[in-house]
Amino acid sequence: MATTADYGLGEFTFPRGWFMIARAEDAVSAPKALRMFGRDLVLYRGESGRAALLDAYCPHMGAHLAAEQSSGAGARRIEGDSIRCPYHAWRFGPDGICNNVPYFDGPLPPAARVRAFPVEERFGCLFAWHDPEQMEPDYPVPDLPEWEDAAWVRCIYDDLGQIPVHPQEIIDNLVDARHFGPVHGQRLAYFNSRFEGVTGRQLSGGGHETMTSEGGVLDVDAYYTGPGILIARFSGETDAVQIVLHTPVEDGVTHVWHGIITRGRQVPPSAEDVELHRQYQQLGLSAFSQDFEIWRTKAPALQILRLPTDGPFHRNRAWYRQFYNPRAQAAGHQGRANGDHATKGLDQAPTAAAAE
Ligand code: FES
Ligand SMILES: [Fe+2]
Repeated sequence: MATTADYGLGEFTFPRGWFMIARAEDAVSAPKALRMFGRDLVLYRGESGRAALLDAYCPHMGAHLAAEQSSGAGARRIEGDSIRCPYHAWRFGPDGICNNVPYFDGPLPPAARVRAFPVEERFGCLFAWHDPEQMEPDYPVPDLPEWEDAAWVRCIYDDLGQIPVHPQEIIDNLVDARHFGPVHGQRLAYFNSRFEGVTGRQLSGGGHETMTSEGGVLDVDAYYTGPGILIARFSGETDAVQIVLHTPVEDGVTHVWHGIITRGRQVPPSAEDVELHRQYQQLGLSAFSQDFEIWRTKAPALQILRLPTDGPFHRNRAWYRQFYNPRAQAAGHQGRANGDHATKGLDQAPTAAAAE
């Protein structure tokens, strides 16, 4: 298992960005222990419906905020959008600040707080902003308007659990033009990589065993917004969006989720549309599992023996480095990645070629 330092990514062990922490339905009023970004955390949903993510350990005497109270006495742990510690019942708001101690009226010391992470609930996911510099988010969670569109069939995300692989290996996939044939049995008609700020994009087209008929082309626009959220739009004979989310758990261990949504042929989608969606999600999962299997068993690619006809791994890694270094240096890393990059030996995406 290789670490952030092994890849030479930068000074932070865990990257800055929006990361999935749980599926929306996983957050309930009972506090839940999570482990992510090398930290013990507590996730809960307040009475308003707002989800909150806090560091797990109470600053009073260190109890885990998600620990159970076996007596059941005073079991009301969530009050409004605040959570009470199970040990002496100090109460913390979603901002992490202690706002009540049942046996003390005076002003509380400033240290009576835990670290709180900004949380957003979008397209069936709970995302938290992780920032080693503890600053406010500098980009938003991407939009997925299809999720709100009555013509589309939503998904329940597949929780693929943790793999002992550094997220760098998953990120490399974005520009890996040459794995499509061997891993997915896919023939590429064109391939392009495009980086712009916090966005890393792959534009590809090709035949697909199941999603196109003979000679048909499936166009794919797959893009990362920050280091943890990949949205891939498929257009052709079927419109679908694949969502792949990955979050560092420990240094070198990654949690992965996957989902697909599809446009139904009827509004609202018919039973047939729902069945078709179920097949797509399975199909997407099995395609993704082909990558997963390689990642699970491979040695870390600390240095890529890159050939001129490989994809632009070096640009992609430069792009990824921005998230492991102070925000003040982000523009420098982006500058080494920004732009449209063709892969020698492969045609360019029609839009990229037109831009030239
Ligand atoms: S340890 Fe949390 S209130 Fe005492
Ligand atoms: Fe792949």
